[in-house]
Amino acid sequence: MKTIEIRAKIRICSHSELSVEQKNVVEAAKRATSGSYSPYSNFKVGAAVLLANGEIITGSNQENAAYPSGLCAERTAIFYAGANYPDVAIHKLAIISRQGDEFGREICSPCGACRQVICEAEARAGAPIEILLCSATEAYIFDGIDGLLPFGFSGKDLQCDAAAEKH
Ligand code: THU
Repeated sequence: MKTIEIRAKIRICSHSELSVEQKNVVEAAKRATSGSYSPYSNFKVGAAVLLANGEIITGSNQENAAYPSGLCAERTAIFYAGANYPDVAIHKLAIISRQGDEFGREICSPCGACRQVICEAEARAGAPIEILLCSATEAYIFDGIDGLLPFGFSGKDLQCDAAAEKH
């Protein structure tokens, strides 16, 4: 038997330590919380993605009385980007939550389904996506989805190079 250990590098910094580019994405994610439709959880989430062309796309969680029909903020933003900018890579993703007027005291961490979708977005982009999980005061910065989804399932496991198939 052999044992392997999985490590993740996470940079933790205050918002004031972020680069201008990172700050812009985080601020967009904060603003995006205003579009959240979350009457069932009262937990607003905002996500923003920075595209290779410099544009920032935002999304927020959209809930539904039939709970599983709702969608998380990250997937709302990533799917919008994929649908409207199919050939433009995502470089950065920021996520933050808000309850009432207060941004989260803890960082907002993506659910499993969102991690899987970020994994696919990386495959499409052909490069790691920087992920900023934010609280009101801090950002946990991951250099790519590997740190959040080790051993992720991707097109490679299907023996097909999904990223290379540009439709
Ligand atoms: N939610 C997100 O939008 N993103 C996350 O990273 C965590 C959870 C949403 C889903 C649901 O609308 C609410 O937060 C409570 O789970």
